[in-house]
Amino acid sequence: MITPRVPRPNIREFDFLVVGSGVAGLFTALHLAERGNVAVVTKDDLTESNTEYAQGGIAVALGQDDAPEDHGRDTLEAGAGLCDPEAVRVLTSEGPGAVETLMGLGMRFDRSGGELVRGREAAHGRRRILHASGDETGHEVERCLARRASVHPSIEIFEHALMTDLLVVEGRCVGVDALLVPDAQRVRFVASVTVLATGGLGQIYEVTTNPLVTTGDGMAAAWRAGCRLMDMEFVQFHPTALYHEGSPKFLISEAVRGEGAVLRNAAGEHFMPDWHPQGDLAPRDVVARAVFSQMRSDGRKYVELDFSSIPLERFLSRFPGIVAELRRQGFDIYRERVPVAPAAHYAMAGIATDLQARTHLPGLLAVGECTCSGLHGANRLASNSMLEGLVFGLRAAQKAAEMPRLSYEQLGVAAELAPPPVRVAAPAIRGELQRLMQSHVGMERDGEALREAQEQLQAWTRGIAVVPAASREEAETANMVTVARLVIEAALARTESRGAHFRADFPAADPAWQRHLVLHAEEGGGAAVEFTPVESPFG
Ligand code: SIN
Repeated sequence: MITPRVPRPNIREFDFLVVGSGVAGLFTALHLAERGNVAVVTKDDLTESNTEYAQGGIAVALGQDDAPEDHGRDTLEAGAGLCDPEAVRVLTSEGPGAVETLMGLGMRFDRSGGELVRGREAAHGRRRILHASGDETGHEVERCLARRASVHPSIEIFEHALMTDLLVVEGRCVGVDALLVPDAQRVRFVASVTVLATGGLGQIYEVTTNPLVTTGDGMAAAWRAGCRLMDMEFVQFHPTALYHEGSPKFLISEAVRGEGAVLRNAAGEHFMPDWHPQGDLAPRDVVARAVFSQMRSDGRKYVELDFSSIPLERFLSRFPGIVAELRRQGFDIYRERVPVAPAAHYAMAGIATDLQARTHLPGLLAVGECTCSGLHGANRLASNSMLEGLVFGLRAAQKAAEMPRLSYEQLGVAAELAPPPVRVAAPAIRGELQRLMQSHVGMERDGEALREAQEQLQAWTRGIAVVPAASREEAETANMVTVARLVIEAALARTESRGAHFRADFPAADPAWQRHLVLHAEEGGGAAVEFTPVESPFG
């Protein structure tokens, strides 16, 4: 327990600090709370995260006809040769226990006759996706964990508190600086162990399923603090976001295809069997690219999803959230096919971590979508991400408990420091950046477009200012510029196509490229590229 001698109103001290409040953050926080006091710092409402919108569910080998090894094989296959096999073994073998723990916290998955119902999604060899309230699994997980965290006596929650930077003293992370958004008040959170669980970066794209909070804050802060980022070129596009005006795009879960829905082109043809033996249930990168290519040859901005083969009663009960949204958007779900198009959905990219959630910065752990352990390879298997949050959240809490508990003075922050500056970029460039990433660094890339985007991002990077006060939007935009630049650097460096990364100028996978790409900051702000083996990529 850290106890300051003098109360400092703008400095809050905890044993553990968790930044972010999706499944990974809250699950970690609940386990840390058994070992000390915990602050959860989150920049929006507690439940606003990618988890809240996850439809499909949690993939886990719990059925009699299933085994972790089978789940592992499917994960490796989808990952296009880039998954760390040990990370996959950890996920799939520890997954059942982590899900039981979640159920022990009160999570109720859908059941039939007392048995858990298991859904099917793309590239899974069997039914193994647990879901809740039909297609509202993420919302139910988030509600369960938020309810527990909110009443836990050892957890204090700080909503609308934006982390502006990691606090590093003598090469060790000792907490974070944050901006309390409503009144732009500065707060310094100090802790022996900080855990980043800040989620993904979908908002750097114009077309994304991700909510507005996904601006890559944790990745950008970790980068500024000297952490390494890995596989930044791999951003997964989901093939079936509803084609409609506005952002974020509404997701139509892969589980719909798991129940029999099929994709059709402008001529009404079922085109996926021409692309892959698994047809509509091929790995996500394959389906997304097929849809993209079909849209191009049809000269349309969408293809159509036909769920007429799913009995209506079943469709209504299994997908109540999707039905409600389609009705809200004016679709006649009894008669119409629905227009869908790919949208940026998930970052396999992130802060390099080992299998205990350690980053390269002492005192800093990271879990969930903001990380890259090599688990997902070049293309994440559907519904493996909430499971990752659970398994690695538990592992992070165990690791944090073993780490030294340091006093306030030992952490070296006793001296009052001047209010920390914040890195900001003009919010007006946000839309321009999203459009540029969509057109130049989207599902199909080539060297020329990437270099053009790189030049623009370098200019925006030079425009990032370090100022004493700032708004959330300005700080987020600076983070988006930082992570977008790193996605481009990595996409330029990987001169092959693999998983979610498709280079039109290098359209084939190259065995020589079966390795991870690690970025670290150079003096002067550049990004140096290193390569690490598929196995144990953290080094
Ligand atoms: C979906 O429900 O299709 C998305 C699931 C996921 O991204 O894992």
